[in-house]
Formats: sequence, structure tokens, C-alpha cells
Amino acid sequence: MRPPEQIETERLLLRKPRMDDAPAVFNGWAKYPEVTRFLTWRPHENIAQSEALMKRSMDGWNGDSNFRYLLEIKESGILAGMIELRLEKEISKVSFGYTGAYAQWGKGYMTEATRACIAWAFQQPAIYRVYATVDVENIPSQRVMDKANMQREGLLRKDSIHPNISPEPRDCYIYAIVK
Ligand SMILES: CC(C)(COP(=O)(O)OP(=O)(O)OC[C@H]1O[C@@H](n2cnc3c(N)ncnc32)[C@H](O)[C@@H]1OP(=O)(O)O)[C@@H](O)C(=O)NCCC(=O)NCCS
Repeated sequence: MRPPEQIETERLLLRKPRMDDAPAVFNGWAKYPEVTRFLTWRPHENIAQSEALMKRSMDGWNGDSNFRYLLEIKESGILAGMIELRLEKEISKVSFGYTGAYAQWGKGYMTEATRACIAWAFQQPAIYRVYATVDVENIPSQRVMDKANMQREGLLRKDSIHPNISPEPRDCYIYAIVK
């Protein structure tokens, strides 16, 4: 079972990353401390780091667990962000993570992409659960999960290191939707 190479929504084309996307990824979100604040990685300092991310993302499509999509706005071709699906085949569940282009926040794009990924997952007979974790202070991301009809199931104490905030692991909520 593999996600499709493209998923189309009303306003977005979710597609595989390419090497030549690196400048747009760097300038769109990867370089901003404001965007990476609650993430597990530090802002990129140069386009080479975004190229390395594109390479890892493309390599992921050759494996069977990590699938990253870029969110291309159909009308303009501008990138609205990235979403990563992680398949855990043995136990019938999928997790995800995402990053939105800074200039595109608040337009509903990540909610649209998240809903589409959940819809794909639940079309798969073997997948029963889609989940994600989020820093307790990351309100915009929690809103996306609310709007995708996910439920906050609990608090994971000291779950994940978000190095832009603190070297100590941070408390996170776990959100999930099941079929
Ligand atoms: C979380 C994120 C991907 C959401 O993307 P998005 O395309 O803006 O998502 P949506 O527009 O569907 O909804 C975002 C929510 O954040 C809020 N928001 C939008 N712009 C914001 C801003 N500049 N500052 C704070 N909150 C903002 C919106 O109000 C919206 O909630 P609402 O519908 O209740 O008003 C984006 O904020 C982001 O990239 N954050 C940094 C990376 C990150 O934290 N990723 C998630 C890790 S778990």
C-alpha cells in the first residue's frame, strides 16, 4: 500500500517534491524562525539545506514508509507548504506532519491538505487510524487538526525536542481520527 504520487483537492495539487523546488521551499518556509519554532529542526541557513531536504523527500518515495508532498496552489503554481505521511503498515495506522509557507498561513490550505490525506488513508481498507502530535503551545496547528475533525486524545509529557524553543523535550498533545 502506497499513497498516490498526486492528490488533487479543490485548490491544491499535492505532488512529489523535485530538486528544483528547493529555492521555493527555502524562501517560502524553511528559512523562517517563525515557521520552524515548534518543529524538530532548525531554520535552513542556505538553499543547499533545502536541496538536501528535497533529496531526502524524493528518496522517501522509493521506500515504503515516508511520503512527502508539496502543496502546489493550482491557480498560481505557488507552494503553500509540505505534508509528510508516515505509514506504519504493521499496525494499520498513519501519522503525519506539516509545514506551511509563511505567506500562505491562514488561508485554509493545510486544513485542505490534511483532510485530503485523511480521506485517502480511510479509503485504504487496512488503515483505521490517522494521528499527529503537536507542541502544547502550537495553537495554529491544533486548529488545523480540529478543523480536520481530529480529536485531542491526550497529553504526551516531555515527548519531543523542539530545539528552537528549548533543548529539553516539550509536552505535546496527540490528536487522532479513526474510522
Ligand atoms: C500549522 C500550519 C501548517 C497551518 O497552516 P495554514 O495553511 O495556515 O492552516 P489553516 O489556514 O487551515 O489554519 C491555520 C489556523 O492558524 C491560524 N493562523 C493563521 N495565520 C496565523 C498567524 N500568522 N499566526 C497565528 N495563527 C495563525 C488561523 O487562524 C487558523 O485557525 P482558524 O481557522 O481557527 O482561524 C502553519 O501555521 C505552519 O506552518 N506553522 C509552522 C509549522 C508547524 O507548526 N507545523 C506543525 C507542527 S505539529
